[in-house]
Amino acid sequence: MVLKILKFLFFLPLIFAFDVANYRNHKAIVLKIENENQFNLVKSLEFKQGYRFWISPVQVNMKVEMVVSPQTYLEFQELAEDNKIEYQVLTEDVQSWFDDEKATKTRKGSKDIENFALDQYNTFDEIMAFITEMQATHSEFSEIFTIGKSFEGREIKGIKISKNENNPAVFIEANIHAREWISSATAVWLINEFLTSTNETVREVVDGITWYIVPLLNADGYEYAYNYDRLWRKTRSTHASLLCYGADPNRNFGYHWMNGGASAVACTDTFAGKAPFSEPETKALMDFYATVYEKVKIFLSFHSATQALLYPWGDTLSPTQNVNDLRAIADAAINALTARHGTDYVFGNTVEVLYVASGTSPDYVYGVYNTSLAYTYEMRHANVGSRFVLPPEQIIPNAEEILESIMAMIAKAKELGYFKMSQLKTVSFIIFTFSLLNITKSINFHCTFFDERWTALGIVYSCEAEVKSVTKTKNLEVVVGNHQYNTEAERFLSNDDIKAISIREQRNLNYFPEGIDKFFRHVLAFDFEGCQISEVSSKDFAPFHNLKEISFVSNKITELPHNLFKNNPHLIKVDFEDNWIKHIGHEIFTHHKNLNQINLVDNVCISSRILRKSEKSQLIYDIMVNCPPSLKLLENEILDSERFKTEFLKIEEEKINQLKSQIEEIERKIREMIEE
Ligand SMILES: *[C@@H]1O[C@H](CO)[C@@H](O)[C@H](O)[C@H]1NC(C)=O
Ligand SMILES: *[C@@H]1O[C@H](CO)[C@@H](O)[C@H](O)[C@H]1NC(C)=O
Ligand SMILES: *[C@@H]1O[C@H](CO)[C@@H](O)[C@H](O)[C@H]1NC(C)=O
Repeated sequence: MVLKILKFLFFLPLIFAFDVANYRNHKAIVLKIENENQFNLVKSLEFKQGYRFWISPVQVNMKVEMVVSPQTYLEFQELAEDNKIEYQVLTEDVQSWFDDEKATKTRKGSKDIENFALDQYNTFDEIMAFITEMQATHSEFSEIFTIGKSFEGREIKGIKISKNENNPAVFIEANIHAREWISSATAVWLINEFLTSTNETVREVVDGITWYIVPLLNADGYEYAYNYDRLWRKTRSTHASLLCYGADPNRNFGYHWMNGGASAVACTDTFAGKAPFSEPETKALMDFYATVYEKVKIFLSFHSATQALLYPWGDTLSPTQNVNDLRAIADAAINALTARHGTDYVFGNTVEVLYVASGTSPDYVYGVYNTSLAYTYEMRHANVGSRFVLPPEQIIPNAEEILESIMAMIAKAKELGYFKMSQLKTVSFIIFTFSLLNITKSINFHCTFFDERWTALGIVYSCEAEVKSVTKTKNLEVVVGNHQYNTEAERFLSNDDIKAISIREQRNLNYFPEGIDKFFRHVLAFDFEGCQISEVSSKDFAPFHNLKEISFVSNKITELPHNLFKNNPHLIKVDFEDNWIKHIGHEIFTHHKNLNQINLVDNVCISSRILRKSEKSQLIYDIMVNCPPSLKLLENEILDSERFKTEFLKIEEEKINQLKSQIEEIERKIREMIEE
């Protein structure tokens, strides 16, 4: 008993020391736990003064990182020697790392957007003020939401960035661990990027995805780490223990709570809390999540610093049901991340890569809300050992590579079908049945409707059509399909929401169907890859004035008339790869300001493609030299220009007549004045 009390007394100086913790001459140490005996010993250090853990001991066969005070270092050396624990000193003075970290913080307390520095570690208040102001200046597609209050009463805010309520969503939660500052700095950078970037690729993910970002969840812990103790990890609640503050919020979620890798002892860094969701911060996060989870396709939890991308489960090695997809997506994400700045990452199941951790947020959303793509980002560290202390000049490079990897993650997830709406939420019904009796005499479309990525449009609600029957009548007469139910709008999306149509590999289709515009009035893109179309004319595209993108890859087209796109001034991309093109009319691409992606690879008279505007004149020259218009095309061009001349003369004549009558009017007025 006495021993126990004595043990507790050890904590007192820690608890009541509100002075700023100073780590001058404290050593950072990494050691390997190789057996049960060593594990128990290292674990017992968690309760002793003079030891702080960066990576806490939770199992045999793991590397632990810790900070040892100068006063206890001798004792530690002896313990290690007696128990054959191998260790390495990473630095003799941990404080020097912290000093460097804030050395460049030039401005403090400034709350306006212009002075906010994205490349520094800012206070909780500064960050909240920044996202609030940024939202206000981009209020047409964003809103601030408050998930609740921290234990000490701080309002925890997040931002929703959404161009379209029908978009699928990605949810980001950051800085749940107080000392992992880079995680919130990165979330704030992303928010700024999503709101302001003019980069086309970034705009695409903003147009096509709703973002929920809670950039700084552990508000109290962060402030404490910022102002008092750089190594603080937990929340700052006092309800579990009189002696030790806080719980580890990322052990506090209510799925497989306390199932390993978490501690029941309040004074340890991995204390799971006295009950699931005992911490107001975790409870608020999941209460909010409950209102949006149906839209969320990917959940991301931002941490640092082991340079890893982790997926569930955290408490077991047994695979999740979609582990192959989780791996494939992580692989794509990490490749993209490394390609940006060369940073090395690993990926895998949490237990496999790190160690056991139960009661984490990704496990919770996966296990309870069936959010089947849930990942933890463990971001950069400066060099092994300095862990959470990442010099400010690395904030932006870190954020850039994270963005790159999230984009690759989304692309891969799409490819694997994760961004299609749930099958449960669609019902079958027939949208249009024009003359069912006539079904064998007309084209008959079966549409599958889902969100798809298009080069010029980004991600849009599209129809993937299967052509059920075709006859000599070119008119599209029947469209059958199941539209998605949109929970926000509480309605089924309709044909008018369709922005793009793909009719791929339909071998029975040998012409451009007429009448598509009567069913789908707002189509901006077509893809007819792998059909048998042999002819296209300006009439085909005329109903789609705003057309941005068309693809006829692998068809049988032989000629492109000069006026093919005369009704489509907004084209950005055209693709005729692998056709039989021999003749191309004059100036076919000349008058389209935005048309900068043209693919004519693998045709009879030409095989080239361009991806930017600067290459266009060369392409036009190549076409002139190699693809002379056929007699038929020339005839049409001449007829067209004759027609143009006639039209032009008519307009001129009208103008002259107008002028004449104006002059007459003036003469009349002058005469009147003279008479007076
Ligand atoms: C746009 O952003 C993407 C993703 O970060 C990047 O890969 C690309 O290089 C950027 N493009 C330009 C023109 O900066
Ligand atoms: C998640 O999936 C399980 C099993 O299919 C189901 O019982 C549960 O209701 C789902 N949860 C939600 C929130 O939809
Ligand atoms: C069947 O199709 C033809 C040709 O499109 C049309 O003239 C005719 O009216 C249609 N018949 C019925 C019963 O709708």
